[in-house]
Amino acid sequence: MALLSILEYPDPRLRTVASEVLSDTVVIQTLIDDMLDTMYAAPGIGLAATQVNRHQRIITIDLSEERNSPHILINPTIKILNQESDNISEGCLSIPGFSEILHRPNRILVTSLTRNFTQISFEATGLLAVCIQHELDHLNGKLYIDHLSSIKRNEIKTEFVKAHKLQNSSQSL
Ligand code: NI
Repeated sequence: MALLSILEYPDPRLRTVASEVLSDTVVIQTLIDDMLDTMYAAPGIGLAATQVNRHQRIITIDLSEERNSPHILINPTIKILNQESDNISEGCLSIPGFSEILHRPNRILVTSLTRNFTQISFEATGLLAVCIQHELDHLNGKLYIDHLSSIKRNEIKTEFVKAHKLQNSSQSL
């Protein structure tokens, strides 16, 4: 069990496209444990391996209030079942302090391997559907702000970088 550090925007490593997980190894199982620890500690409801600089197609999500029902998805793929959006507000552990409402399909079919490398398919709706699409974007080197207008994206970038500089300078005092 270990906490991993989370890459923050605009770190170029967040743009890496993750590779398929080819086999069940101790390294992969340890990474999953560490991702869960890191996600719960942050705290966050979802984490992609890309965010901890491990470029393997692994996602962890937990939407439960008790924080004891994780979804662990390995090599996930999705099929859109409904283009309508619930207009849910999204934030990201790699861009802390910001959130935006995005248009994302609200019903998807997810196919993935479980932690035991068993293949599963299930329908996801609402927040879970949004969360899976957000984390899948990370595995493809994409951030939620990429879906925004360039004006809005630049606004967030400027504010985020400025906020970080202030934070860093106050820490060094
Ligand atoms: Ni994120």
